[in-house]
Amino acid sequence: MPRTGSTHEPNERTKVTLPEVGRLYAEGTKLTMITAYDATFARLVDLAGIDVILVGDSVGMVLQGEANTIPVTLDEMAYHVRLVAKARPKAMIAGDLPFGSYQVSPQQAVESSIALMKAGAECVKLEGGVSMAETIAAITRVDIPVVGHIGLTPQSIHRMGGHRVQGKRSGFEAGGRERLLEDAHAVEQAGAFAVVLEGIPRDLASEIRNKLSIPTIGIGAGPDCDGQVLVLHDVLGLSDRTYKFSKAFAALGEQAIAGTAAYAADVRNGVWPDDQHSFH
Ligand code: KIV
Repeated sequence: MPRTGSTHEPNERTKVTLPEVGRLYAEGTKLTMITAYDATFARLVDLAGIDVILVGDSVGMVLQGEANTIPVTLDEMAYHVRLVAKARPKAMIAGDLPFGSYQVSPQQAVESSIALMKAGAECVKLEGGVSMAETIAAITRVDIPVVGHIGLTPQSIHRMGGHRVQGKRSGFEAGGRERLLEDAHAVEQAGAFAVVLEGIPRDLASEIRNKLSIPTIGIGAGPDCDGQVLVLHDVLGLSDRTYKFSKAFAALGEQAIAGTAAYAADVRNGVWPDDQHSFH
Protein backbone atom coordinates (compact mmCIF):
# COMPACT_ATOMS: atom_id res chain seq x y z
CA MET A 1 0.00 0.00 0.00
CA PRO A 2 1.53 3.39 -0.96
CA ARG A 3 2.20 5.64 2.03
CA THR A 4 1.97 8.91 0.11
CA GLY A 5 -0.61 10.40 -2.22
CA SER A 6 -1.88 13.50 -3.99
CA THR A 7 -4.50 15.72 -2.42
CA HIS A 8 -7.12 14.21 -4.73
CA GLU A 9 -6.47 10.53 -4.05
CA PRO A 10 -8.48 8.71 -1.40
CA ASN A 11 -6.24 7.77 1.47
CA GLU A 12 -6.25 4.00 1.42
CA ARG A 13 -3.39 3.15 3.76
CA THR A 14 -4.16 1.17 6.87
CA LYS A 15 -5.12 2.92 10.08
CA VAL A 16 -2.26 3.49 12.51
CA THR A 17 -3.35 2.01 15.82
CA LEU A 18 -1.54 1.37 19.08
CA PRO A 19 -0.58 -2.20 18.05
CA GLU A 20 0.62 -0.85 14.68
CA VAL A 21 2.93 1.61 16.46
CA GLY A 22 4.28 -1.32 18.47
CA ARG A 23 4.77 -3.31 15.29
CA LEU A 24 6.64 -0.48 13.53
CA TYR A 25 8.85 -0.06 16.61
CA ALA A 26 9.53 -3.80 16.83
CA GLU A 27 10.57 -3.99 13.19
CA GLY A 28 12.82 -0.94 13.60
CA THR A 29 10.87 1.42 11.34
CA LYS A 30 11.34 5.04 12.38
CA LEU A 31 8.09 6.61 13.59
CA THR A 32 6.98 9.90 12.06
CA MET A 33 4.98 12.40 14.09
CA ILE A 34 4.03 15.96 13.16
CA THR A 35 1.67 18.51 14.67
CA ALA A 36 -1.59 19.64 13.07
CA TYR A 37 -4.38 21.69 14.53
CA ASP A 38 -7.17 21.60 11.93
CA ALA A 39 -8.87 19.37 9.37
CA THR A 40 -7.17 20.89 6.32
CA PHE A 41 -3.62 20.22 7.44
CA ALA A 42 -4.58 16.95 9.13
CA ARG A 43 -5.76 15.70 5.75
CA LEU A 44 -2.57 16.86 4.00
CA VAL A 45 -0.11 15.39 6.50
CA ASP A 46 -2.16 12.20 6.50
CA LEU A 47 -1.86 11.96 2.71
CA ALA A 48 1.89 12.44 3.19
CA GLY A 49 1.90 9.21 5.18
CA ILE A 50 2.64 10.50 8.69
CA ASP A 51 2.16 7.88 11.44
CA VAL A 52 0.97 10.09 14.30
CA ILE A 53 -0.65 13.54 14.20
CA LEU A 54 0.03 15.41 17.41
CA VAL A 55 -2.56 18.05 18.22
CA GLY A 56 0.02 19.83 20.32
CA ASP A 57 -0.43 22.61 22.82
CA SER A 58 2.13 24.36 20.60
CA VAL A 59 -1.12 25.59 19.03
CA GLY A 60 -0.78 28.42 21.57
CA MET A 61 2.43 29.68 19.98
CA VAL A 62 1.80 28.57 16.40
CA LEU A 63 -1.82 29.66 15.85
CA GLN A 64 -2.75 31.83 18.82
CA GLY A 65 0.33 34.08 18.88
CA GLU A 66 1.10 33.34 22.54
CA ALA A 67 4.69 33.55 23.83
CA ASN A 68 4.48 30.07 25.35
CA THR A 69 2.07 27.16 25.84
CA ILE A 70 0.91 28.08 29.36
CA PRO A 71 -2.33 29.91 28.39
CA VAL A 72 -3.76 27.06 26.28
CA THR A 73 -6.93 25.59 27.81
CA LEU A 74 -8.46 22.10 27.76
CA ASP A 75 -11.49 23.43 25.85
CA GLU A 76 -9.19 24.84 23.18
CA MET A 77 -7.32 21.55 22.90
CA ALA A 78 -10.59 19.63 22.63
CA TYR A 79 -11.69 22.02 19.87
CA HIS A 80 -8.51 21.46 17.83
CA VAL A 81 -8.59 17.69 18.40
CA ARG A 82 -12.16 17.72 17.08
CA LEU A 83 -11.06 19.61 13.94
CA VAL A 84 -8.24 17.15 13.27
CA ALA A 85 -10.54 14.17 13.87
CA LYS A 86 -12.95 15.55 11.24
CA ALA A 87 -10.29 14.69 8.63
CA ARG A 88 -10.64 11.03 9.68
CA PRO A 89 -6.89 10.50 9.28
CA LYS A 90 -5.30 7.10 8.96
CA ALA A 91 -2.61 8.52 11.22
CA MET A 92 -3.11 8.04 14.94
CA ILE A 93 -4.33 11.23 16.66
CA ALA A 94 -2.50 12.25 19.84
CA GLY A 95 -4.16 14.94 21.96
CA ASP A 96 -1.88 17.07 24.11
CA LEU A 97 -2.99 17.73 27.68
CA PRO A 98 -2.47 21.46 28.28
CA PHE A 99 -0.97 23.09 31.38
CA GLY A 100 -3.36 22.96 34.33
CA SER A 101 -5.47 20.12 32.96
CA TYR A 102 -3.60 17.23 34.62
CA GLN A 103 -1.15 18.49 37.25
CA VAL A 104 -3.72 18.87 40.06
CA SER A 105 -4.42 15.16 40.57
CA PRO A 106 -4.53 11.84 38.71
CA GLN A 107 -8.32 12.12 38.77
CA GLN A 108 -8.19 15.51 37.05
CA ALA A 109 -5.80 14.00 34.48
CA VAL A 110 -8.17 11.10 33.77
CA GLU A 111 -11.11 13.49 33.36
CA SER A 112 -9.13 15.76 31.01
CA SER A 113 -7.92 12.77 29.01
CA ILE A 114 -11.49 11.55 28.64
CA ALA A 115 -12.46 15.00 27.31
CA LEU A 116 -9.77 14.79 24.60
CA MET A 117 -10.70 11.19 23.73
CA LYS A 118 -14.35 12.20 23.35
CA ALA A 119 -13.19 14.96 20.98
CA GLY A 120 -11.48 12.34 18.82
CA ALA A 121 -8.01 11.74 20.26
CA GLU A 122 -6.74 8.17 20.16
CA CYS A 123 -4.11 8.73 22.82
CA VAL A 124 -2.97 11.64 25.00
CA LYS A 125 0.40 13.19 25.69
CA LEU A 126 1.52 14.85 28.89
CA GLU A 127 4.73 16.41 30.13
CA GLY A 128 6.76 15.18 33.09
CA GLY A 129 8.64 12.12 34.31
CA VAL A 130 8.94 10.82 37.86
CA SER A 131 6.43 13.36 39.16
CA MET A 132 3.83 12.25 36.60
CA ALA A 133 4.25 8.47 36.98
CA GLU A 134 1.15 8.04 39.15
CA THR A 135 -0.84 10.20 36.75
CA ILE A 136 0.26 8.23 33.69
CA ALA A 137 -0.65 4.99 35.48
CA ALA A 138 -4.11 6.34 36.33
CA ILE A 139 -4.80 7.33 32.71
CA THR A 140 -3.58 4.03 31.25
CA ARG A 141 -5.65 2.15 33.86
CA VAL A 142 -8.80 3.38 32.08
CA ASP A 143 -7.36 2.20 28.74
CA ILE A 144 -6.32 5.58 27.41
CA PRO A 145 -2.89 5.20 25.75
CA VAL A 146 -0.36 7.77 26.96
CA VAL A 147 2.70 9.33 25.32
CA GLY A 148 5.15 10.74 27.87
CA HIS A 149 7.23 13.87 27.24
CA ILE A 150 10.47 14.62 29.09
CA GLY A 151 13.48 16.88 28.74
CA LEU A 152 12.68 20.39 27.56
CA THR A 153 9.06 20.38 28.63
CA PRO A 154 7.60 23.71 27.44
CA GLN A 155 4.99 23.81 30.23
CA SER A 156 7.93 24.03 32.69
CA ILE A 157 9.21 27.20 31.03
CA HIS A 158 9.27 29.16 34.27
CA ARG A 159 11.27 26.52 36.15
CA MET A 160 13.71 26.18 33.25
CA GLY A 161 14.05 29.96 32.80
CA GLY A 162 13.10 29.72 29.12
CA HIS A 163 12.99 27.04 26.45
CA ARG A 164 16.41 25.64 27.39
CA VAL A 165 18.13 22.39 26.47
CA GLN A 166 17.96 20.01 29.45
CA GLY A 167 20.29 17.23 30.62
CA LYS A 168 23.50 19.07 29.86
CA ARG A 169 24.70 18.88 33.42
CA SER A 170 24.91 15.96 35.78
CA GLY A 171 22.48 15.62 38.66
CA PHE A 172 19.25 14.23 40.04
CA GLU A 173 17.45 17.57 40.27
CA ALA A 174 14.87 18.47 37.58
CA GLY A 175 16.60 18.80 34.23
CA GLY A 176 19.76 16.98 35.38
CA ARG A 177 21.13 14.13 33.30
CA GLU A 178 20.60 11.33 35.84
CA ARG A 179 17.15 12.68 36.65
CA LEU A 180 16.19 12.50 32.98
CA LEU A 181 17.22 8.85 32.92
CA GLU A 182 15.00 8.31 35.97
CA ASP A 183 12.20 10.25 34.28
CA ALA A 184 12.42 8.05 31.20
CA HIS A 185 12.24 4.83 33.25
CA ALA A 186 9.37 6.21 35.35
CA VAL A 187 7.34 7.08 32.26
CA GLU A 188 7.89 3.62 30.79
CA GLN A 189 7.12 1.80 34.01
CA ALA A 190 3.95 3.85 34.51
CA GLY A 191 2.62 2.45 31.24
CA ALA A 192 3.30 5.07 28.56
CA PHE A 193 3.55 3.45 25.13
CA ALA A 194 6.02 6.04 23.80
CA VAL A 195 7.94 9.03 25.08
CA VAL A 196 8.86 12.32 23.44
CA LEU A 197 12.43 13.39 24.19
CA GLU A 198 12.67 17.13 23.65
CA GLY A 199 15.72 19.39 23.76
CA ILE A 200 18.34 17.08 25.21
CA PRO A 201 21.88 16.23 24.07
CA ARG A 202 22.15 13.55 21.41
CA ASP A 203 24.22 11.19 23.57
CA LEU A 204 21.70 11.32 26.41
CA ALA A 205 18.80 10.67 24.02
CA SER A 206 20.74 7.73 22.63
CA GLU A 207 21.38 6.35 26.11
CA ILE A 208 17.70 6.67 27.02
CA ARG A 209 16.69 5.06 23.75
CA ASN A 210 18.97 2.11 24.38
CA LYS A 211 17.66 1.62 27.92
CA LEU A 212 13.92 1.79 27.16
CA SER A 213 11.64 -0.79 25.56
CA ILE A 214 9.14 1.78 24.28
CA PRO A 215 9.65 4.09 21.29
CA THR A 216 11.50 7.34 21.91
CA ILE A 217 10.34 10.18 19.66
CA GLY A 218 12.83 13.00 19.43
CA ILE A 219 12.61 16.72 18.82
CA GLY A 220 15.93 18.42 19.30
CA ALA A 221 17.28 15.12 20.62
CA GLY A 222 19.37 13.94 17.69
CA PRO A 223 18.90 11.18 15.12
CA ASP A 224 19.20 8.10 17.33
CA CYS A 225 15.61 8.13 18.63
CA ASP A 226 13.05 5.62 17.35
CA GLY A 227 11.07 8.40 15.69
CA GLN A 228 10.94 12.14 15.22
CA VAL A 229 8.37 14.88 15.78
CA LEU A 230 8.37 18.47 14.51
CA VAL A 231 5.95 21.36 14.49
CA LEU A 232 4.09 21.48 11.16
CA HIS A 233 4.49 25.21 10.58
CA ASP A 234 8.28 24.93 11.00
CA VAL A 235 8.43 22.00 8.56
CA LEU A 236 6.38 23.84 5.93
CA GLY A 237 8.27 27.12 6.23
CA LEU A 238 5.28 28.96 7.68
CA SER A 239 7.04 30.12 10.85
CA ASP A 240 8.71 33.49 11.19
CA ARG A 241 11.58 31.98 13.21
CA THR A 242 14.08 29.23 12.58
CA TYR A 243 15.37 26.86 15.24
CA LYS A 244 18.58 24.79 15.41
CA PHE A 245 16.57 21.61 16.05
CA SER A 246 14.10 22.17 13.20
CA LYS A 247 14.12 22.60 9.44
CA ALA A 248 11.83 24.07 6.79
CA PHE A 249 11.34 21.24 4.29
CA ALA A 250 9.10 23.51 2.17
CA ALA A 251 8.66 27.26 1.64
CA LEU A 252 4.90 27.68 2.01
CA GLY A 253 5.30 31.03 3.73
CA GLU A 254 6.92 32.55 0.64
CA GLN A 255 4.33 30.89 -1.59
CA ALA A 256 1.49 32.22 0.57
CA ILE A 257 2.82 35.78 0.29
CA ALA A 258 3.45 35.48 -3.47
CA GLY A 259 0.04 33.91 -4.13
CA THR A 260 -1.82 36.51 -2.07
CA ALA A 261 0.13 39.37 -3.65
CA ALA A 262 -0.67 38.04 -7.14
CA TYR A 263 -4.37 37.89 -6.27
CA ALA A 264 -4.33 41.44 -4.84
CA ALA A 265 -2.49 42.75 -7.91
CA ASP A 266 -5.02 41.16 -10.29
CA VAL A 267 -7.91 42.67 -8.32
CA ARG A 268 -6.29 46.11 -8.34
CA ASN A 269 -5.56 45.83 -12.07
CA GLY A 270 -9.16 44.82 -12.80
CA VAL A 271 -8.17 41.47 -14.34
CA TRP A 272 -9.70 39.33 -11.60
CA PRO A 273 -12.27 37.94 -11.98
CA ASP A 274 -12.22 37.55 -15.77
CA ASP A 275 -15.18 36.49 -17.90
CA GLN A 276 -14.22 32.81 -17.66
CA HIS A 277 -14.73 32.90 -13.90
CA SER A 278 -18.03 34.77 -14.12
CA PHE A 279 -21.59 33.37 -14.21
CA HIS A 280 -23.80 33.99 -17.22
O1 KIV B 1 2.93 20.79 21.57
C1 KIV B 1 3.74 20.30 20.79
O2 KIV B 1 3.76 20.59 19.58
C2 KIV B 1 4.71 19.35 21.32
C3 KIV B 1 5.77 18.84 20.40
C4 KIV B 1 6.73 19.91 20.05
C5 KIV B 1 6.44 17.64 20.94
O3 KIV B 1 4.63 19.00 22.45
